[in-house]
Amino acid sequence: MSYDLIVLGGGPGGYLAAERAAQSGLKTVCIEARAFGGVCLNEGCIPSKTLLNSAKIYEYALNGAKYGVTTAGVTIDQKTVVERKNKVVTTLVSGVKSTLRTHKVKMVEGFCEIIGRDKDGFTVSVAGEMFKSTNLIIATGSSPAIPPIPGVKEGIASGFVLTNREILDLETIPQSLVVIGGGVIGLEMAAYYNSVGSKVTVIEMLDHIAGPTDREVSTMLQKVYEKKGVTFKLNSKVTAIGTSSVSYEENGKTETVQADKVLLSIGRRPVISGFGLERLGVLTEKGAIKTDRTCLTSIPNVYAVGDVNGVSMLAHTAYREAEVAVNSIIGKRDIMRYNAIPSVIYTNPEMAGVGETEESAKAKGISYVVGKVSMLYSGRFLAENEGGNGICKILAEKDSGRIIGAHMLGAYVSEFIIAAGMMVETEMTLSDAKEIVFPHPTVSEILREAIFAI
Ligand code: NAI
Repeated sequence: MSYDLIVLGGGPGGYLAAERAAQSGLKTVCIEARAFGGVCLNEGCIPSKTLLNSAKIYEYALNGAKYGVTTAGVTIDQKTVVERKNKVVTTLVSGVKSTLRTHKVKMVEGFCEIIGRDKDGFTVSVAGEMFKSTNLIIATGSSPAIPPIPGVKEGIASGFVLTNREILDLETIPQSLVVIGGGVIGLEMAAYYNSVGSKVTVIEMLDHIAGPTDREVSTMLQKVYEKKGVTFKLNSKVTAIGTSSVSYEENGKTETVQADKVLLSIGRRPVISGFGLERLGVLTEKGAIKTDRTCLTSIPNVYAVGDVNGVSMLAHTAYREAEVAVNSIIGKRDIMRYNAIPSVIYTNPEMAGVGETEESAKAKGISYVVGKVSMLYSGRFLAENEGGNGICKILAEKDSGRIIGAHMLGAYVSEFIIAAGMMVETEMTLSDAKEIVFPHPTVSEILREAIFAI
């Protein structure tokens, strides 16, 4: 069967590309090997947020007395939490399928293989059925990085070592959890299992958690979780995994920590092999498909969106890349801009950032000014977060006053980081931003406070 476009992968990058392409009149097929919705809907963003919401409700209930609400016998039932997570996932996945159906995208469930290219276009096979098209969008995503640490393979096989997939399906709460890697997945799962009662240890190779986020804010987050009982082992490299323990090297000394379960969250790797990609001769770089700012690969008519191009491994980046790729196919000029993509870590409190951090601005030699305020400047935050605190920082270029970054820790910051994102995206200056009226009382007003603090 001949199509205008074959999309390989039905995650956020793939399904949105298929939807937009079909809306633009392209005859489109979208092929998914595991489950439509991809990692994000099935074993990533959405299921983890469902779990974290249960943890938040549980913590509120346990701490209700601070707000004058006393409850007795508060418990959390992990089995119900997981069942609800599954229900949410099923609803969303059927929503995605129904949208694709509405737009007349041909959905194929099965493992695809690129057969090659001839004068008529590309050929892709799924279980012996051939599909032909003039354009390809590769959206095969990423899979968890598995390091060559002794004991990892055996640990995965026995169920002692888990990845993002299995950790979301545990029906009993482990007494102790060792998290290898203090990045986004590691911190969100450390937050969940800490809230529901596990003794959590995070082992991180670097001298800080949360990767390239603003250091002052990530250090605050670490302190909050240390207070909640999480142990952080920084500058520590895991050297071996036993049957019920993890060994790591800290300051040249080998230490061992016992665990009921281990989460491996040391990053994800683009999926670029096993499906015949090499037959197209697409250029790759550092294990990812090389793309330009229209998401075009080194081969004409072949685009790569989402985690597989390794640029910004976030579902929301994939959505936009999908639109840019489709627009390029239909001849509408569009390019990716990566400087104002917000990032969020859904701990409690949440951490969110966009644009330059102090560290990245310094590294680029940008001269900047910072406005910094405590979350306690927000009336609504104070009203709703007894004993809590947080921060909001705004960075602006010194000479032009152009807003170049914002970084926050506190309740709801995931919901209004986009306001700061829009300021960065539109190159808004501090004086323009000062004229914006924020609704009162909301935690978002903290942005205004930080702007006026410069
Ligand atoms: P990550 O790249 O965020 O963090 C991995 C961490 O592991 C790094 O801090 C790294 O220094 C550390 N590490 C690497 N090797 C190590 C070792 N041998 N021992 C100890 N530490 C080691 O990767 P993560 O957390 O696995 O997340 C994967 C992807 O999923 C990311 O691209 C992330 O953006 C995405 N994601 C996004 C979420 C969100 O937007 N809220 C939620 C969950 C995942």
